[in-house]
Amino acid sequence: MTTEMSSTEDIIGRKEIDDLGAILSVVGTEESDGRHVVHSDYDSIFTWDYEKGARPKLNKLYEKAKNAQWNGETDLPWETDVDQEKLVIEAAAAQGGHAVGFDISGTPLEKWTDKEWVAFGVESQNWTLSQFLHGEQGALICTAKIVESVPWIDAKYYASTQVMDEARHVEVFAKYLDEKLSGHYAVNAHLRMLLDDIIADSRWDMTYLGMQIMIEGLALAAFGFMHSMTPDPLLKKLLRYVMADEARHVAFGVLSLQEYYADLSTAELRERQEFAFEAAVRMRDRFLQQEVWDRMGVDPKAILPVVLSAPDRTEFQALLFSKIVPNCRKLGLLDAADGWLRTKFTELGVIEFESAVDTSEEYDAMAAVPPTQRELV
Ligand SMILES: [Fe+2]
Ligand SMILES: [Fe+2]
Repeated sequence: MTTEMSSTEDIIGRKEIDDLGAILSVVGTEESDGRHVVHSDYDSIFTWDYEKGARPKLNKLYEKAKNAQWNGETDLPWETDVDQEKLVIEAAAAQGGHAVGFDISGTPLEKWTDKEWVAFGVESQNWTLSQFLHGEQGALICTAKIVESVPWIDAKYYASTQVMDEARHVEVFAKYLDEKLSGHYAVNAHLRMLLDDIIADSRWDMTYLGMQIMIEGLALAAFGFMHSMTPDPLLKKLLRYVMADEARHVAFGVLSLQEYYADLSTAELRERQEFAFEAAVRMRDRFLQQEVWDRMGVDPKAILPVVLSAPDRTEFQALLFSKIVPNCRKLGLLDAADGWLRTKFTELGVIEFESAVDTSEEYDAMAAVPPTQRELV
């Protein structure tokens, strides 16, 4: 195991976190045969210790997951009519206009009429849901890998329920995109880079850290944000069900890694900190939605500095990390190695959430109502 300390450039491929030119130079591609292959070399572990409940918190999570299964085909109101343009117009009216919070004078957006703004809103939603969909497939693959590679029976049991959850999430996001929205986007290059790194790593705890703590932690916050904003009752209910599952998934990551990280050396923890930082930067980069600006015919380099300078934007970016930061604190990752990750999260402007409640404490409160009375708020 390496004990070399890496620089920011070693970890994320650029010296400055906010180097927009470098971020935008990473462009996505999609394979012509419709498949993306990631090689992974890792140990599949059998355990002969079948004692159920040796890890009581994981066992409790497993029992809860068995009772919280839902059916993507029959539990959601798919008959709901979704008028995407009307929803974009309603959402804009609710916040007082299309370009609230940033100054578009002197930019290509200055000449936009309502028609372009509505088209942008529609594309932005197509893009966001497409990225959720690709992330869900990443979760499906990562969690199937955890079933094989984690050495504890309680964790294998729980992870197998998560595999089913993720299949359902892929299924419902794909259906919503196909039946209710108006276009797909390929996986964002930054998200894909992160998924590839997580899947290629041979160490089972890195799968958990990258997926359960970082990607799913961010997804939980992003789904929560969209759940509170969307006027579409179908999407609201879909997100509410998915969030209940995701809260368990993040708790699974925290409860498993807490035990494992307690025995790691400072050098080993520093490697985990670096991986968490890399994941945080990749996810921040992906939220620039550069592909949407391209599709709207606007050079992302010309408009993103304006978008990013809006005060709301900083707040939104920070909010996305509201689950990740307290969970990293719970795992001891903020303060290990002289607080290296605390410094990095401070640079990213997200450290304010460190005292928020961690997901291993709050997942129960996020549960959906029991399956017998599946009426969700
Ligand atoms: Fe999921
Ligand atoms: Fe998940």
